[in-house]
Amino acid sequence: MLGMHARVPKHFVLEERLERYADAIEIAPAALAGRWREACAPIGSAPFARLAVDLGCGKGPFLVATARSDPQTLFIGIDGEPVCIAYAAQRVIEGGLDNALLVPALGNDLVRIFAPGEIDELIINFPTPFPRKKDAPKRLVSLERLLEYRTVLAPDGRVVFKTDHEPLFAFAREQFELAGYEADYISDDYRSDFPDTPASEYEERLVAQGAKVHAIIAHVGELAEEPVLMEPPSLVDYLPENLEDLGYVPYGMRGTVVNLINRREHEAARRARSKRNRS
Ligand SMILES: C[S@@+](CC[C@H](N)C(=O)[O-])C[C@H]1O[C@@H](n2cnc3c(N)ncnc32)[C@H](O)[C@@H]1O
Repeated sequence: MLGMHARVPKHFVLEERLERYADAIEIAPAALAGRWREACAPIGSAPFARLAVDLGCGKGPFLVATARSDPQTLFIGIDGEPVCIAYAAQRVIEGGLDNALLVPALGNDLVRIFAPGEIDELIINFPTPFPRKKDAPKRLVSLERLLEYRTVLAPDGRVVFKTDHEPLFAFAREQFELAGYEADYISDDYRSDFPDTPASEYEERLVAQGAKVHAIIAHVGELAEEPVLMEPPSLVDYLPENLEDLGYVPYGMRGTVVNLINRREHEAARRARSKRNRS
């Protein structure tokens, strides 16, 4: 698991929660690879028409709202943080949904959990940006991950990626292109174009703080040759030159931006001092 620490109330006992909502949690997902739509259909019902994955689903409000609006599609919420799985499973059970399930897993497990071509829609909402270079391999929109997703997406399947994070968005656009995806939609203001689709928990929170929703919707295109995997850069490389102009500082990068501004101010002050001392 990710070892991230979602906030929990004082008397929250993870094991007890996971057990209570176990009916909505699949702990042996690889056994269902290739037959999710049939295996998860309610007894006596036809297989689900489609399979959608909400990767990094968090505590699940988006998963539940989307599943409720589309009962023919099976929605699998995946998250590496067990606390999120427990909360999302609770929402599924309490919402009485039979077309949504949770899987505790990581982005790089998709190729193990799903058969080739099995996913119709892969949704990645506001993924953890992992701005530092050393954490870059954990980004859900790295070239390596996007190449893996190609194999589990249906031929007419698509990836829907949304973020408040301009540096991550700029990085992701490059990675989608390198991985041979073709964009059907790219926008810096998804919410204006799709005002009626459900918002995720992070979208609600960050838009209230002034964020715009940047989005890519892309399908798998031709890949002329296998791209060479290179070490992904720090997202600091995608920040604008003048940080003071940054109206909205993206989630997960506030500390970095403050440190960069302080560092630049100290350097400017030091240069000014040494100039004064020389004259
Ligand atoms: C910023 S939250 C966004 C949650 C939700 N998608 C939303 O928009 O409200 C990112 C979520 O992704 C999960 N996550 C981060 N990296 C992951 C990975 N490699 N595999 C699976 N989940 C991951 C985190 O545990 C967290 O719940």
